[in-house]
Amino acid sequence: MSNSDNSYKAKDFLSLRGMCSDDFEQLIHVAHYLKRRWRKGVHEHSLDGQQLAMVFEKPSLRTRVSFEVGMSQLGGRAMYLSGEEVGIGKRETVEDVARVLSRYVDGIMIRTFAHEVVEGLAAAASVPVINGLSDAYHPCQALADMLTIDEHFSTMRGLKVVFIGDANNVARSLAWACHLVGSTFVLACPQDYAFAAADREDFAEAWGSSISQVHDPRTAVEGAHVLYTDVWTSMGQEEERDRRLQAFQGYQINATMLEWADPSCKIMHCLPAHRGEEITADALEGASSIVFDQAENRLHAQKAVMRVLMGGDRERLFAAVAADMQRPVNA
Ligand code: CP
Ligand code: NVA
Repeated sequence: MSNSDNSYKAKDFLSLRGMCSDDFEQLIHVAHYLKRRWRKGVHEHSLDGQQLAMVFEKPSLRTRVSFEVGMSQLGGRAMYLSGEEVGIGKRETVEDVARVLSRYVDGIMIRTFAHEVVEGLAAAASVPVINGLSDAYHPCQALADMLTIDEHFSTMRGLKVVFIGDANNVARSLAWACHLVGSTFVLACPQDYAFAAADREDFAEAWGSSISQVHDPRTAVEGAHVLYTDVWTSMGQEEERDRRLQAFQGYQINATMLEWADPSCKIMHCLPAHRGEEITADALEGASSIVFDQAENRLHAQKAVMRVLMGGDRERLFAAVAADMQRPVNA
């Protein structure tokens, strides 16, 4: 990490696109730090008295609970608001929601459909906005994923991460995360479910080098350190389910696929999982699976994002994290 000037400046956490490697790695270091401290029994109330508004226009288990518990562990409170109740863009404009919430709370987390809603909210809010999943991105998931990879491989660099499935929000964020930490991302997908031209342009110089896609799963999986998948039908795509079930045949993570990978290979899934579709029960529950460590790490990753964006003392925090990283593991 070369974040010696502690230059993390961002107000919001909307996507990893355009983020610099140092900032992303800084968040991962903070997540490790908070996790270590929590496990040692250090209950720091660094967000004492702060309030997070959580707007959910789609269902959630992990995101909702980890933000709520995370906020409480940091000394603050989180408030659940259903999309129906808030009525963004229906009952009132995105901008008005942002301006009103900014008068009451210290941060806003939103899970929605169009990524433009997240961006509109962030542009009009005076408090930090965190993307808890949009149709385009799931950056909190990718942060937790990298934390988990770092824990299991003792590095995030030089690994081959293979995503078997749809070029969706989770795949897109993971691709960016791999690029930012110096690993390789390969998407194995059916022809019609690949990254579109706009994505390929966004990935710019990473496309074809650190980020690529193939249609043959075996070619993709050869030498993989991580096999990752997600549901074939994301929230909001329910009407396409039958067509997708057909299209993704042959793209299931199972024991055969695992044999093609590197012997050290770990299996990851953002959850919720559809056993028997994108992954077999054996693969999900087997010795190579780290999916529940990954799910747990949503909590630590989210705490890091909230702590950095809402804490108001980034330099002091980063100095404490850097000092902690120098200590022997058992100290
Ligand atoms: N992985 C994930 O975001 O889970 P939830 O949809 O349950 O929040
Ligand atoms: N791609 C999935 C992720 C769920 C956490 C969805 O958007 O529904």
